[in-house]
Amino acid sequence: DTTTPRPPLSRIPPDVLCAQDYEALAARFLPAPHHTYIAGGSGFEGTLRANRDAFEHLQILPRLLRDVTAGHTRVMLLGHELRHPILLAPLAFQTLAHPQGELDTARAAAATDAGLVVSTLSAWPLEDIAACSRGEKWFQLYFQPLRDSTLDLVRRAEAAGYGALVVTLDAVVQSPSLRAQRAGFRMPDAVRPGNLLHHATPPQVELERGQSLIFQGLMREAPTWDDLDWLMRHTRLPVIVKGVLRADDALALKAAGVAGIIVSNHGGRALDGVPASLDALPAVRAAVGADYPVLLDSGIRAGSDVFKALALGADAVLVGRLQVFALAVAGALGVAHMLKLLREELELCMALAGCATLQEITADCVTHRPA
Ligand code: FNR
Repeated sequence: DTTTPRPPLSRIPPDVLCAQDYEALAARFLPAPHHTYIAGGSGFEGTLRANRDAFEHLQILPRLLRDVTAGHTRVMLLGHELRHPILLAPLAFQTLAHPQGELDTARAAAATDAGLVVSTLSAWPLEDIAACSRGEKWFQLYFQPLRDSTLDLVRRAEAAGYGALVVTLDAVVQSPSLRAQRAGFRMPDAVRPGNLLHHATPPQVELERGQSLIFQGLMREAPTWDDLDWLMRHTRLPVIVKGVLRADDALALKAAGVAGIIVSNHGGRALDGVPASLDALPAVRAAVGADYPVLLDSGIRAGSDVFKALALGADAVLVGRLQVFALAVAGALGVAHMLKLLREELELCMALAGCATLQEITADCVTHRPA
């Protein structure tokens, strides 16, 4: 059967030795079009490739003879202490990979002390996901065409105990993946946006093939600075903006009262041609100063990638695709195992690089590979 995922394992797969192994293994559990949809990027996938290139071109410069016996990976984020700096990125429609979807992801986050970010487009309702979680969880908000609908989501997230709103701003229109289209991917009818079933309007503007109506009304509902300001006046939760790549935007968001930012290009799924998140990070960090919360995602596949992102100024990172790949292979167990591996990889990297704490992972710990 090429349309339904293979049942997940109920044990940790013995041949997974590093977090990244879940990517290849997931191809055996997911129908090919599903795997392609998750793995792919938008357009010609230049940004998707750039994300990985950026990590691969950065090398680590270990410090010798440092005492790391009291080493740890704790980090403070928005006034909360996390045991490690690896969060689960918001990923839509996780029942595509596993029937338990976001419920299992939340269970895995709880088991591994990982911060959890739940998508507006989760297949399960945000309340059900919250009930499976423990610890730090944030709700990722897509502005809805009607302010009342947006406010409804905000109130539900507040009531369910989410600690922050992550407003994603880099995907006001969905950028099609040519690879997924060529693979014949279609979202199965059974996979629905669990938070929006009673909303009248479609959650996100989807571009049909052959349509060129972007400036003929399609962008009327795309959020502007006024909407962000309105949102911050209508919630008691801190607001974090996801999708920042420019230093001037970062500075303006900080000035507007945004509590933190996520340097991200949506894993290469939004505008193709933008820089790797890792390459955009140093200028953003320099603009907002040392004490402002800056997270990064897009391209994290190993603990050494987390190390590199922290060296260039991130306080923490989010993991996207590895999460759904691990989910497809072994559900909550797989996601928890993937997170455990990533964290162990980070600790190994820190120990060998002579860094006892995340604060000691500084810019001089990395160098660009000569061209
Ligand atoms: C995403 N991403 C995403 N982002 C968001 O803010 N809301 C969402 O609903 C989704 N949905 C989504 C689905 C799928 C299948 C993917 C692969 C990605 C983007 C995600 O949060 C994150 O920015 C990237 O996935 C990070 O890159 P890596 O870790 O996948 O390389």
